[in-house]
Amino acid sequence: MKRIKIAELLRTEPVGTEVTVKGWVKAFRNNQFIALNDGSTSNNIQVVVDFEHTDEATLARIKFGAAISAKGLLIESQGKGQKVELKATELEILGDCNPDEFPLQPKKQSLEFLRENAHLRFRTNTFAAVFRIRHALAFAIHKFFNDKGFFYLHTPVITSSDAEGAGEMFRVTTLELDKPPRTESGEIDFSKDFFGRSTNLTVSGQLEGELAAMALGEIYTFGPTFRAENSNTTRHLAEFWMIEPEVAFNDLNDNMNLAEEMLQYVINYALEHCADDLKILEERLIEEEKSKPQEQRSEMSLTEKLRFVIDNEFVKITYTEAIDILKNSTPNKKGKFQYPVEGWGTDLQSEHERFLVEKHFKKPVILTNYPAAIKAFYMRQDEPKEGVPGPTVSAMDILFPGIGEIVGGSQREERYDRLVKRMGEMHIPEHELSWYLDTRRFGSCPHAGFGLGFERLILFVTGMTNIRDVIAFPRYPGSAEF
Ligand code: 4AD
Ligand code: MG
Repeated sequence: MKRIKIAELLRTEPVGTEVTVKGWVKAFRNNQFIALNDGSTSNNIQVVVDFEHTDEATLARIKFGAAISAKGLLIESQGKGQKVELKATELEILGDCNPDEFPLQPKKQSLEFLRENAHLRFRTNTFAAVFRIRHALAFAIHKFFNDKGFFYLHTPVITSSDAEGAGEMFRVTTLELDKPPRTESGEIDFSKDFFGRSTNLTVSGQLEGELAAMALGEIYTFGPTFRAENSNTTRHLAEFWMIEPEVAFNDLNDNMNLAEEMLQYVINYALEHCADDLKILEERLIEEEKSKPQEQRSEMSLTEKLRFVIDNEFVKITYTEAIDILKNSTPNKKGKFQYPVEGWGTDLQSEHERFLVEKHFKKPVILTNYPAAIKAFYMRQDEPKEGVPGPTVSAMDILFPGIGEIVGGSQREERYDRLVKRMGEMHIPEHELSWYLDTRRFGSCPHAGFGLGFERLILFVTGMTNIRDVIAFPRYPGSAEF
């Protein structure tokens, strides 16, 4: 008999029919009641065992974590907490689970412990909820762009370009590390390498995305990106997933609106489609916050926070305005910032971003028109403006409560001469990006795009606090297990 998934069973409640369910034991009470879960939903089905007619040996094998198959009649439940239950007529143990050896226990275990057992943590209610939501968000992103007529573009994972120019790349090579071929001047000869040149894992699909946008009009990428930055934080991964839309004829304003619309759409999608999982995570968060002092607890519950972002327009201010706010802020005047805000031109630290979002505006904030000196070469150069001390670019960063930067993007420099000049200033060799410059030589046009860090979005939606808990197999300095 074909198994029915618990999600479907609970949705249709086909009372009176004979069904087979398979899953893992979450609990076994009174030698009679099994809470069974198959991953299709956070909800369990109660399987009632006819213990008088089940042999002792089988009953003894119904342990937390064991995989079982149960066949029986679906009836209205006598107990409270569930509408239906399965009166089992046949029970089969598919896989035993020895409680003395199984690292997971039917009680709350720390996230650190579960991170060390990441191969098993899917079995916990929290992580199953996180990964079902991760799936829903990925799907929502594709749906959002597809419904708008964007084309999904697959950009390369191995590339010879450093899109962000930040030099935080993982090299890809087949050269032998202990005796690489050398040029006459003694340098490593990458012309002998697999691709005939030096290559790395991509840090961003943007530059390739721009090429396609300048023909297809509206594209987006959604793939893994890699950064060899030595950041051991709760917000950084060495391998993370990024969504990068790129749109011909869009300016900075269009770009901000697209990003805001996308974020509100996908968050709303999660609220509409992941209610059960969000409830589990909301309860988890309430428990976690109990260990914090009152003033550090958040004023809103998880779903209230998500609703709030959907219902309120994001604040849009320039970098220059943000610096003014920060300079005159109480924590800055009282010396509470680890990095005091002295003047225009410095990069914002996450403490500054979080002050703006969490304390000052209490809303997501889009910061625009950053100093050119702290942003990438491809961003469009602004005209000088009164009251702005130095050159700026049409950049935008979206800052979220509890997260900091969730999106980074810009209008692109479409003017060939300006772009080449900027590359020169930043010591980016023209010949390495001749293919990129060609778009500016042939039918160039204004265009804009941004990158959304997928794991940072999941952090926000799930209320988890460590980015290593929202990707199945996290890669970070010193760790690449599995
Ligand atoms: O701001 P970033 O570096 O922008 C770009 O890569 C552009 N090429 C995007 C574009 O305009 N098409 O990265 C974009 C986003 C950040 O806002 C952040 O959410 C996320 O990617 N991100 C990371 N997420 C996890 N771990 C890291 N190490 C990340 N670095 C960036
Ligand atoms: Mg950025």
